[in-house]
Amino acid sequence: MKNILLEGKNLRLRRASDTDLNYIMKLQFAPENLKFIVPFDENYHREILSSNDKLDIIVEEIDTGERVGYFMLRELDTPCAEYTHVIIDKKNRGYGRESLKLLLKWTFEIKKYHRVWIDCKDYNSIALHLYESLGFVREGVLREIILTNGVYENLIVLGMLDREYFTQPLFRRS
Ligand SMILES: CC(C)(COP(=O)(O)OP(=O)(O)OC[C@H]1O[C@@H](n2cnc3c(N)ncnc32)[C@H](O)[C@@H]1OP(=O)(O)O)[C@@H](O)C(=O)NCCC(=O)NCCS
Repeated sequence: MKNILLEGKNLRLRRASDTDLNYIMKLQFAPENLKFIVPFDENYHREILSSNDKLDIIVEEIDTGERVGYFMLRELDTPCAEYTHVIIDKKNRGYGRESLKLLLKWTFEIKKYHRVWIDCKDYNSIALHLYESLGFVREGVLREIILTNGVYENLIVLGMLDREYFTQPLFRRS
């Protein structure tokens, strides 16, 4: 099927379609996710479906076909892709790790980007642990850049270069 980007052991990544928009909106606004992200409206996600520089990717279980999360990518028309949203619905089962490894493989081995970057609230310890354990490097702090419920919050910027990806033992022919 042409919408499949990559398959791993348990999960596959595929392009989102218009039938996934409700799911994406539900995940964005679920309280356990919303506190860690900046959501976009449905029209924005609808435009992504036909965009050349942005992509919404659905993560789904191979066995059941059930959707378990989604990624939103931007800046895909540059050598430096951005992972804008990383959300896993079925949490704490290793799906974040497996799906991000697949996404990194797609980013560097298939699409040949030079760099990927991501930003993350400084108190999002689960996401920071996950990103750094996959080899993302902390590159800096955007201090008090985001206003959430009247409070300015810091974002940590993390990045990975293609040469870092290709020299990581973790990703040797995974
Ligand atoms: C961050 C997120 C994507 C991780 O996905 P996940 O599928 O739950 O993560 P995994 O099960 O693959 O676990 C990843 C690591 O986090 C750890 N972890 C997961 N849940 C945890 C928890 N509740 N407390 C402490 N550690 C936890 C796991 O132990 C694992 O580390 P390890 O492999 O070294 O043991 C998911 O929690 C999520 O969608 N969070 C809300 C949205 C968000 O914060 N997105 C990121 C914005 S930058």
